[in-house]
Amino acid sequence: MDIRVLEIADLPYVQQTNLTNLPENYFLKYYLYHAISWPLLSYVAVDISRPPKSPYDPPRIVGYVLAKMEEEPTDGIPHGHITSLSVMRTHRRLGLAETLMRSSQRAMVESHGGQYVSLHVRKSNTAALHLYKDRLGFKIDKIESKYYADGEDAYGMKMDLEFIRDELDEEDAAAEGIDEGDAVGDEGKAGKEVKKEKKRKVKVGRGLGVGDLVERSEVRS
Ligand SMILES: CC(C)(COP(=O)(O)OP(=O)(O)OC[C@H]1O[C@@H](n2cnc3c(N)ncnc32)[C@H](O)[C@@H]1OP(=O)(O)O)[C@@H](O)C(=O)NCCC(=O)NCCS
Repeated sequence: MDIRVLEIADLPYVQQTNLTNLPENYFLKYYLYHAISWPLLSYVAVDISRPPKSPYDPPRIVGYVLAKMEEEPTDGIPHGHITSLSVMRTHRRLGLAETLMRSSQRAMVESHGGQYVSLHVRKSNTAALHLYKDRLGFKIDKIESKYYADGEDAYGMKMDLEFIRDELDEEDAAAEGIDEGDAVGDEGKAGKEVKKEKKRKVKVGRGLGVGDLVERSEVRS
């Protein structure tokens, strides 16, 4: 099984997986919007047990997580949101959903400085509730009455991502501590004169909303 970042070529197969597993479905352009706006946040699980017969064979997508950053967070705190998650029946209880979720959460922190992640889940969805509450550590934030088209209520859930930031800091500290030894010969002498460049953390990604993506001239007209 290969768990990797979603690619644009995967989108029709991700949409197919979503249609098979969930009643909440989206236009293809909405998947594309996610892939273009937050290219590091969505992941797919690909069954690679049988090699493709030709280069034109589609990837066998058996699970996905579609995720984004909240574009205009009402609380002003940068945070991620899980738009959709599903795994094909044939591949459930293998830990795929958990790995997909953890991969996306890490990217939310690493690439966008996300402080927490939110999602909605049907009150009756016991499998997903177990995953979110017991396995990943989400907490119920609120109940959204009649959130779904068929009138079912949703739990609005949240999970703090601070622990991922700590893990990343520890990994950085460990990487900086690795002693690779001094270079030898002329390179070694030259190296001693060069001051060690200090590593600096920078935020990547962007927090632009759709409105910000419209060209100024178009906005005026
Ligand atoms: C919910 C769903 C994504 C879980 O996918 P999965 O790959 O089978 O989940 P995992 O194997 O990663 O399971 C991790 C944990 O979730 C919980 N879990 C998963 N399926 C469960 C089930 N049927 N009943 C109870 N708990 C379940 C368990 O705690 C499990 O850990 P364990 O196997 O060690 O007990 C999958 O059942 C699914 O696609 N359902 C239909 C779509 C859906 O409901 N999506 C969520 C919308 S909010």
